[in-house]
Amino acid sequence: GPALFAPERVNSRGFDLRHRPTLAAINEARGRFNTHQWQAEPLTRSDLATPPEAVLNPARPDDIVGHVAWATPDTVAEAARQARTWQAPAATRAEVLNRAADLYEAHYGELFALLHREAGKSLPDAVAELREAVDFLRYYAARAEGAAPVGVFACISPWNFPLAIFTGQIAAALAAGNATLAKPAEQTPLVAYRAAQLLHEAGVPRDALHLLPGAGDVGAALTRQPQVGGVAFTGSTETAQIIHRSIADHLAPGTPFIAETGGLNAMIVDSTALPEQAVQAIVESAFQSAGQRCSALRCLYVQEDIAPEFLTMLTGAMDTLVMGDPWQVASDLGPVIDAEAKAGIMAHIAAAGHRVLKTYDVPDAGHFVPPTLIKVGGIADLGREIFGPVLHVATYKAQELDRVIEAINATGYGLTFGLMTRIDDRVQHVTERVHAGNIYVNRNQIGAIVGSQPFGGEGLSGTGPKAGGPQYLDRFRAHPAPMEGT
Ligand code: NAD
Ligand code: ALA
Repeated sequence: GPALFAPERVNSRGFDLRHRPTLAAINEARGRFNTHQWQAEPLTRSDLATPPEAVLNPARPDDIVGHVAWATPDTVAEAARQARTWQAPAATRAEVLNRAADLYEAHYGELFALLHREAGKSLPDAVAELREAVDFLRYYAARAEGAAPVGVFACISPWNFPLAIFTGQIAAALAAGNATLAKPAEQTPLVAYRAAQLLHEAGVPRDALHLLPGAGDVGAALTRQPQVGGVAFTGSTETAQIIHRSIADHLAPGTPFIAETGGLNAMIVDSTALPEQAVQAIVESAFQSAGQRCSALRCLYVQEDIAPEFLTMLTGAMDTLVMGDPWQVASDLGPVIDAEAKAGIMAHIAAAGHRVLKTYDVPDAGHFVPPTLIKVGGIADLGREIFGPVLHVATYKAQELDRVIEAINATGYGLTFGLMTRIDDRVQHVTERVHAGNIYVNRNQIGAIVGSQPFGGEGLSGTGPKAGGPQYLDRFRAHPAPMEGT
């Protein structure tokens, strides 16, 4: 039968168990960048850009991480005119993408420093993110063959995986031979700039990869360019809906649109679950990356019989979390991305009033939001996606399990779902009924691995196909019309 770990398993060689750098080596490598200031600008043949603006560290807003000159909608139009599909043979494209993966690994100290200082990522998050970026490059490189590119792909990415998702979209589009117009999120232009430079250094032609740092107006301009033949987007469901309308208004009918969007992810813990295992999985799923993962656990359902003891254990585990400057190795949680994100999440916590079961004081300086547990009014009260370290909890009676499943499905989202139980029949009953792209049983529900756990949602959470899975590249290829008679 198939090997448990197939040869195509792609975990980044630089960071697997045999070659993982020691902590001392990591500290030495990133230490050279703890006060460095990066400069970024559009990577396209155009002089059109705004004067540079400072990019600030979300943990220490007096730390200037660098400066960025933004693209404008006019830069976008020029880049779209210059974009040329990547004509090299598939084997050459694969070789170049693998070389880019090697360069990412070689520059790990600088990329970690950028992930800490620009995106607020803890060290474990930075390691996982670089691995994922490298895995995407190698996984799509291995599937570069037989391409018939769509043409020019717009790739619009979010700040919460500013290296991995940014790279994954581009790598897929390039592996299939497309030209890419890449717009990173406005919060994280510097790490995207270094990544794009490394891709060019590896041999991706300048006309096949244009970098257009900018805000939503630059993204919106991309979805209006007549040269654009496809759009890959990861971000909020609301933005995906705006882009969908723009594509319908401005681009050719049938333009491929891949959207990976938000979630209202739930976990059910029944009375047979192992409490220690469930608590650890919940803490990781809800609070790692300061809850700024689309996959993060948002709404926890605990069976009423075990709830009092279980929630005491959970808040005890929350007490052990260390929140601090992500440069520090001991930090479990860094800040949220910016002042606006902090204000929105803190307002949500304040509005919850007496329903807040646990929260903490955090320093005013830096955009820190404490891990927080909020009791919700009832089973159907899932609210909306709060993109931070805030976990909502509801209790349910054993006979209400199907109502819980209905409530989860009624949100219309379907990204991740977790189940903690030791009853096999219940695993089958629940997982057959819950609508979610990635379902996890008796483990955490974040951190999908490229190749072995393709990642993506359904309903309001995404269009598919799943990133890091065998079907993803197909959407970046133009398929010949079906033959007559088929
Ligand atoms: P966002 O939608 O605000 O921004 C995403 C990107 O879209 C950014 O580059 C932004 O500049 C751009 N954009 C904004 N307005 C635009 C417009 N009108 N036209 C074109 N582009 C536009 O999302 P965010 O705040 O950066 O990211 C957080 C959201 O992303 C959360 O909802 C999260 O769940 C989701 N997310 C989903 C996945 C997934 O794989 N399903 C992964 C990561 C994040
Ligand atoms: N792929 C990321 C995860 O699974 C979003 O957490």
